[in-house]
Amino acid sequence: MAERDAASRRRFLGQLGTGAAALWAGIAPGNAAQTAPAGTDTFEPDVALELIAEPRRLSLRPGPATLAWTYRAHVVKGDPATVQELPQGYLGPILRVRRGQKLRVDFMNRLDEPSIVHWHGLHLPDSMDGHPRFAIGPGERFRYQFEVKNRAGTYWYHPHPHGRTGAQVYFGLAGLLLVSDDEEQALPLPRGEFDLPIVIQDRTFGDDNQFRYLGGARPAAARGEATEAPPASGRATGGGTMGGGTMGGRGMMSGDMMARMTGFLGDTILVNGRPNPSLEVAAHPYRLRILNGSNSRIYRLAWHDGRPLTVIATDGGLLERPVQKDYVVLAPAERVELWADLSQDRVGTELTMLSLAFDGSMGPMMDRMGGGSMGRMMASSTLAAGARFSIFTVKVVRKANGSLELPERLSSIRWPLLEDAVNRTKPRTFRLTMERMQWGINRRVFEMTAVAPDEVVKLDSTEVWEFVNDSGMMTMAHPMHVHDQQFRVLERRRGPVSESVRDGFVDQGWKDTVLLMPGDRVKLLLRFEDYPGLYLYHCHMLEHEDSGLMRNYRVEA
Ligand code: C2O
Ligand code: CU
Repeated sequence: MAERDAASRRRFLGQLGTGAAALWAGIAPGNAAQTAPAGTDTFEPDVALELIAEPRRLSLRPGPATLAWTYRAHVVKGDPATVQELPQGYLGPILRVRRGQKLRVDFMNRLDEPSIVHWHGLHLPDSMDGHPRFAIGPGERFRYQFEVKNRAGTYWYHPHPHGRTGAQVYFGLAGLLLVSDDEEQALPLPRGEFDLPIVIQDRTFGDDNQFRYLGGARPAAARGEATEAPPASGRATGGGTMGGGTMGGRGMMSGDMMARMTGFLGDTILVNGRPNPSLEVAAHPYRLRILNGSNSRIYRLAWHDGRPLTVIATDGGLLERPVQKDYVVLAPAERVELWADLSQDRVGTELTMLSLAFDGSMGPMMDRMGGGSMGRMMASSTLAAGARFSIFTVKVVRKANGSLELPERLSSIRWPLLEDAVNRTKPRTFRLTMERMQWGINRRVFEMTAVAPDEVVKLDSTEVWEFVNDSGMMTMAHPMHVHDQQFRVLERRRGPVSESVRDGFVDQGWKDTVLLMPGDRVKLLLRFEDYPGLYLYHCHMLEHEDSGLMRNYRVEA
């Protein structure tokens, strides 16, 4: 363990100037290689966990068991309730922590390929953030130690190895990380059985009940056991080509090639790692914590009977006050929490969460081809982007004692001030680009540790960033995620094609992922605090991320 950490650390230190490294670690230059990671000796965790990624066979559908890659966790020290297994599905356990808690997680990689865990939405030192440069090989361990600084909210964890994030998440590796704090605990929110996780994902199963990913790839069962897929198929090279390996022999622009470029869409919807989700509930208010854990699918959430959605939280926790929506658009990695009051519903009522139809997300070229035979041939899924379908059903089976009133005020937010932004009138602009079938940001693709001059920000500064989603004919929707951050959405200038989703954005709360429909420009306010270092920002459509629509930014002390 210590050796592993030291190795990661040496690699990490090698990427910085010694001066910066020394500042970061609080140690003298030259000692770096011999010194244990900062705080190892003094760090006394409140909670210590072991988190293991490994293959597992699960019975998800009638017939043969499905081989998945799953997270498993157990508590080594501290509150045993920190780990809550979700029975039956492939999803990782829910991790429940409190703000201010010191957390240690020993991650063990029992896959047959490199992996690393990213804590999506958390504000962390960069060495704890699960950057792909820290990926560990099969059989290796990585120790995370950090204090939970985020406000109460619904965060999540998932793998982040370079070029393989899409495949590893798809094969099952993801879980929720729920943070609580005093402000939230003081509110009369639904708790216990009335606080429900809802992780929405899409998958495609083969006749043999096995997951099918790009090129027909499936998870390997154990170390050394070969994937049962053509060799090149699952391995997006990232950064260079759009998976050149799959092009040969399949003709130009096969569905598979297209799926790499537009994002993989499964044809079966799962909730909490299980298909055909339905849940028996009481006539009582519920807190629904919804995560879009899909690789690339966008949902337009609405109740089937037209009742409005009451939104109480976004990516970074509770809103200041509830917001009513006819529908909510949820892109990959985004979270939304709903107050679903079923207390007036009679026993026997069934309520279905739908994804309503929408258009435009695939952009001008795909829209033009979508109706034709060309579009059908190239579609990666029988369940098209923007199709209407049901996601899950709740059935009221009993009355409940007592009820709860939706609070008018949920939290107080201290936003960073626009006046404080160093570039208030001149936002840092990130344009999403597409050239020679290669996604990029400002025409650059991901390189492991590369940072361009316009990707360096100052510690303790506030900035305006603008994402611009206009890459010509190939423009499509992209959910942009910034590591280490919860930001404020200052402004959204809509492109011409987002009519059917226009009222579905919840920009009122803290966000770490923001969806840009084709033609959209979005301005964000970000504050860089506490930790200098190297962090990622990228598109959270995982096939885009794996193919290089990702860059580093550096926070400089
Ligand atoms: Cu949810 Cu860089 O990731
Ligand atoms: Cu994208």
